[in-house]
Amino acid sequence: MRYSEAVLAAPPGSAHFQPADLARLTPSTLHRVLAPVPSAPPLEDVAAALGPHPGELFSVAAALEPARGERLLRLSQRPLPDTERWAAGERLVRGLFWTLVYELEPERWVALAEAEPISPQLLRDLPAAGARVVEVGAGAGRLTAHLAGVAAVVVALEPCPALRERLRRRSRAHVLAAVTQQLPLLSGWADLATAGAAMGSQPPLGGPAALAELERVVRPGGTVALISPQEPEWFQERGYALREYPVPEIPVRPDLTAYFGPLTPPNTLLVKTV
Ligand SMILES: C[S@@+](CC[C@H](N)C(=O)[O-])C[C@H]1O[C@@H](n2cnc3c(N)ncnc32)[C@H](O)[C@@H]1O
Repeated sequence: MRYSEAVLAAPPGSAHFQPADLARLTPSTLHRVLAPVPSAPPLEDVAAALGPHPGELFSVAAALEPARGERLLRLSQRPLPDTERWAAGERLVRGLFWTLVYELEPERWVALAEAEPISPQLLRDLPAAGARVVEVGAGAGRLTAHLAGVAAVVVALEPCPALRERLRRRSRAHVLAAVTQQLPLLSGWADLATAGAAMGSQPPLGGPAALAELERVVRPGGTVALISPQEPEWFQERGYALREYPVPEIPVRPDLTAYFGPLTPPNTLLVKTV
């Protein structure tokens, strides 16, 4: 999803964040989500929004490649009307909404993930029984809990420290810090590589390098199975078969919909035999 699309699609809860909250993200997260890719905010927006907050601006700049950090500081010197700064700040918190939630409000994500269970029929169709499984973007363990119950071994990877901590506490999986674009596993190690709502066609979440890594770590004849990725048609164009499952019945949760919008339990599966 491009930055402009993420800005438009942001749930109402984005109003809860301020541009200065960016400086509360860990340096490795800032480095990842502010990389120069189409789904990341342009440095112009970061500079405009953080210009009036020099402390936060410097800590964000310090997390970037030196040349990009310097460019951010230079851009922040441009005179701008307050209305433009305000609009850039609103785009920024909307475009980075999910990262801000995972890292700064992890309990909210945990509550949402619990209220949006993955379709049980879909879980049954994952070839995880007795398998060596790698799960990327494992979050707080919504899918990991199922995998750990049936697989021979599960390696669960998650870049966000706050979610990783919860994952360690609640699952039997081997939990590591890593992004999908660079998996710390030998080629052909896994029978199944999987992700629950944690892949897409664009970095920093997904993209060609991330998909190539998932396919690299699966043995010949093994499976890559992606649950409700963004832009499913991008995966279909790359040989993945789409399966759709009934959406589980879930209780109405006005507290969650007020913040996140309509609840959407994951119910699609994109599968490929490698
Ligand atoms: C929508 S959450 C899904 C979490 C979990 N799989 C679930 O179904 O509950 C997306 C997750 O992907 C993680 N993530 C973001 N960028 C990533 C990347 N490049 N590589 C791996 N995980 C990433 C986020 O930190 C977050 O935990």
